Amino acid sequence: MEYVVKIIDYDHQGRGIAKIDNKIVFIPNTIIDEEVKIKTVDNKKNYMEGIVINYLKESPIRRKDICPYYEKCGGCSIMHLPYSEQLKYKQNKINNILKRYLKMDIKVKAIIPSDNEFYYRNKVTLHVDNNHNVGYYENKSNKIVKIDQCLLLDNKLNEYIKNIEKITKDITLRTNGVKVLDDNSTIIKTIGNYKFNVSLESFFQVNDNVTYKMYEKIKEYAHATKKDNILDLYCGTGTIGIYLSNTCHEVLGIEINKQAIIDANKNKELNTIKNISFIADDVSKVITNLNFKPDIIIVDPPRAGLDHIAIDTIIKLHPQKIIYTSCDPMTLVRDLNILKEYYQIKELTPFDMFPNTYHIESVVLLERK
Ligand SMILES: C[S@@+](CC[C@H](N)C(=O)[O-])C[C@H]1O[C@@H](n2cnc3c(N)ncnc32)[C@H](O)[C@@H]1O
Repeated sequence: MEYVVKIIDYDHQGRGIAKIDNKIVFIPNTIIDEEVKIKTVDNKKNYMEGIVINYLKESPIRRKDICPYYEKCGGCSIMHLPYSEQLKYKQNKINNILKRYLKMDIKVKAIIPSDNEFYYRNKVTLHVDNNHNVGYYENKSNKIVKIDQCLLLDNKLNEYIKNIEKITKDITLRTNGVKVLDDNSTIIKTIGNYKFNVSLESFFQVNDNVTYKMYEKIKEYAHATKKDNILDLYCGTGTIGIYLSNTCHEVLGIEINKQAIIDANKNKELNTIKNISFIADDVSKVITNLNFKPDIIIVDPPRAGLDHIAIDTIIKLHPQKIIYTSCDPMTLVRDLNILKEYYQIKELTPFDMFPNTYHIESVVLLERK
C-alpha cells in the first residue's frame, strides 16, 4: 500500500516515525517534518514498516549523496543527518530511554562526540558471496552490498580493500597507524600512554579517539586510591584495567576469550605493569568464587548486558563503586533497574563511538548507598 505521511519523531534505530490511522510506521532515511510518499513493506499488529518512494517535502538539513551505498547497506542508519543533528538524536534517544524505562531522574552529561565522523573505524569484517562479491550485508539480510571503500573506515583499510584479490571467505582486518592486520599475528594499538597488543579474534574498541575519552572518563569516575582493588569484568585485552593500574592497589581482569587473555598478559608485560592479573573464563562461572575483594568493579559486557549471576554477585561483593560501560542502552537500563536498589546512579556520560549509526556507548557511575 502507498501513503503520504509526515515524519513526527525517530525510533531507537534512527528511523523516522509517522502515523497512519493511529498506527505507527517506521521509515528509514527520513527526517522530522519531512513529507514522504511511502510504500509499506511490513504490516504487523501494532506497527508497520515503510520505505520512501519519493520525498515530497525534504528537510533543509538533509545531507545527500555522501555515500553511494547508503540506501542499501545495513551499516549506517543516520548518515543523512548532519553530524550535529546525529549528536542531538543520540542525546534525545538516551534521555528518552532513561526517562521511560528507568523511571527516575539521573544526571546525564552531554554526549562526547567523535573527533571525526568519517574514517574512524579501525576494524572491518567484509563478507563474500558465492559470486566473489565482497562487501557488507544489506539491512536485515545476508545479501552482499559490493563495496570498494567505506566512509567509516580508516583509509589504510580502504587502501587494503581496493587492492583485495578474489577472496573465498569472510575477512576481518584491523589497523593502527602503521599497518593492516589480516593474519593471526597481533597489531599494537596506542591509547593514551599505554600500548596494547591486539589480535583479530580479540575485542578492541573500534574508534580510537573516543576510546581514549571513554577510558579517561572511567578513570575519573573510578577516582581510585592506592588502597583500592579494581575488578575489571569483560576485560578484553586488559585495556581498562591496565589504563587504571597506576591509580590503584591491584587489578583483576576476567574475560572469556582465551586469545584476548593471551593478548592481555602480553599487554601487562608491554606496559611493565606488576599489579594486574587475568582470569580466562566466563564471568558468571568464576565471579562467585573469587579470592579478591574489589572496592571498584568495572563492567563492560557485550550487548546482552549482565546476567543474573553476574549482577547478584556484583551486589554481594559490595564494592564502593560500580562503573558500567555499555554499548546497548536498553540492556543497560534493565540492569540499572536492579542495581539502583543498592547503588545510587550518580552520573551517565554518553559517547559517540559509532558516528553515522544509531549506536550509543555509555559510561555510568554508581556508588553504594
Ligand atoms: C564490549 S567488550 C569489552 C572489552 C574491554 N573492556 C575493552 O574495552 O576493550 C566485551 C568483552 O566481553 C567478553 N565476554 C563476553 N561474554 C563474556 C562472559 N560471559 N564472560 C567473560 N567475558 C565475556 C567478550 O569476549 C569481549 O571481549
